Amino acid sequence: MKNQSVLRWGILGAARVNERLMPAIVSSDNAKLIAIASRRQGAAAEVLAKYAPQETDVLVLDDPEQLLNNPDIDAVYLPMANEEHTEWAIKAIEQGKHVLIEKPMALNLEEIEAIEAAAIKYKVIAMEGFMYVFHPQHDAVHKLIDSGVIGEVRTVKTCFSFPMKPARLYRITRGIEQGGGAMWDIGPYAVHTARKWFDSDPVSVISMAKLNEHGADVSLSGVLDYGDGKFAHFDMSFERARRSEYEIIGTLGGIKCETVWNNPNDAPVVSWWTDAGERHTMQLEAANHFDLEIEHFSDCVLNGKTPALSFSDAKANCKTIVAALESASTGNKVEI
Ligand SMILES: NC(=O)c1ccc[n+]([C@@H]2O[C@H](COP(=O)([O-])OP(=O)(O)OC[C@H]3O[C@@H](n4cnc5c(N)ncnc54)[C@H](OP(=O)(O)O)[C@@H]3O)[C@@H](O)[C@H]2O)c1
Repeated sequence: MKNQSVLRWGILGAARVNERLMPAIVSSDNAKLIAIASRRQGAAAEVLAKYAPQETDVLVLDDPEQLLNNPDIDAVYLPMANEEHTEWAIKAIEQGKHVLIEKPMALNLEEIEAIEAAAIKYKVIAMEGFMYVFHPQHDAVHKLIDSGVIGEVRTVKTCFSFPMKPARLYRITRGIEQGGGAMWDIGPYAVHTARKWFDSDPVSVISMAKLNEHGADVSLSGVLDYGDGKFAHFDMSFERARRSEYEIIGTLGGIKCETVWNNPNDAPVVSWWTDAGERHTMQLEAANHFDLEIEHFSDCVLNGKTPALSFSDAKANCKTIVAALESASTGNKVEI
C-alpha cells in the first residue's frame, strides 16, 4: 500500500479469541485497531473494555456491515464462528478489505475456493489464521531437521487436548456439520502440523471419534498415511489433561516440541535425541505468535508481500480434515 506504514484493522465479531488477537493488533508497530463490531448490542464495547481498555478511540459498532462500509479500515480480522467464516470473509472482500480468517478458513473446499475467487477478483489478501507457524521455535526445529541429526522424517505425532471448561461448552453443543467438535476446533492445528513437517499431503486417513449427544466429536484420534511407511498420528480431545505438543521421529533420532498451540509467552522447550545416545533440551526465548501473525499479515498488505499461508495450504488442510471426519463417521479408511 502506497505511503502507509500502519495497517488499519477492524475486528468482525466479539469473539472470545479477541483476548489474544486484540492486544496483538493494538501492540503491533505496523497495525492500528480502528473498530470492532458485533451483532449483539453492547458486546463489542464489552470486549474492547476487557481486552484493550486503554484504547479509548476505537470505534465500537453493533452492526458488522457498518464496519465493512468504513473506508478507514484496510483489513479485517474475522473470528466469527467456524460456519460463518465464508459468508463474512466474502462480504469483507467485496468491500475491498484484506482478511485474516481464523482457522479453519471454511468447512469445505468449495467455500475456500469461493473465498479465493473473491480475493483474486477484488485484489486483496486473505489468509487462514494459523498463528503457531509464526513462532520461532519451529525455525529451531527446522534447523535440527536440516542438520540431519534425526535423519529422514518418518513419523509425526501431534497431541492437543484439554478438559473443556463450562464456559467453552458452546464449542461442542453443535454437531460436526455446523463446525462444532474437536476436529474443527483444535484438529486444524494437528493436521496442519503433520502436513508441515512432512512437507506434503497424506494419501489416506483412518480415524475414530467419540461423539456427544449434539453430534460433536469430543475426542478424535487417527493416522494419516504418507506412503512408504510414513505416518502422522493425531490425538485431539476435550476430555483429557492438557497437552499441546508434537514429536517428529526420524531414521536416526527424534525431536519434541512441548508448547505449541498454547497461550503466548509460554517458555518454549524443544528437546531432541539420537540413536547414538545424544540427549538435548533447548529452552528458547518466549515469543508471542499472535503478535507475530498480525505483524506478518500487516507487512504483507503494506508491502505487497506473499503471505506465509496460501490458499492451496488451506485447501489441503480442509481436504484432510473432511476425510478424517468421514473416516470417523464410516469407520473406513478414506483416500485423500
Ligand atoms: N487462533 C487461536 O488461538 C484460536 C483460539 C480460539 C478460537 N479460534 C477460532 O476463532 C474463531 C472464534 O472462536 P471463539 O471461541 O472465540 O468463538 P466465540 O466466542 O463463540 O465467538 C464466535 C462468534 O460468535 C458470536 N458470539 C460470541 N459470544 C457469543 C454469545 N455469548 N452468544 C451468542 N453469540 C456469541 C460473536 O459474533 P457477534 O459478536 O457478531 O455476535 C463471535 O464473533 C473460531 O473460528 C475458532 O476456531 C482461534
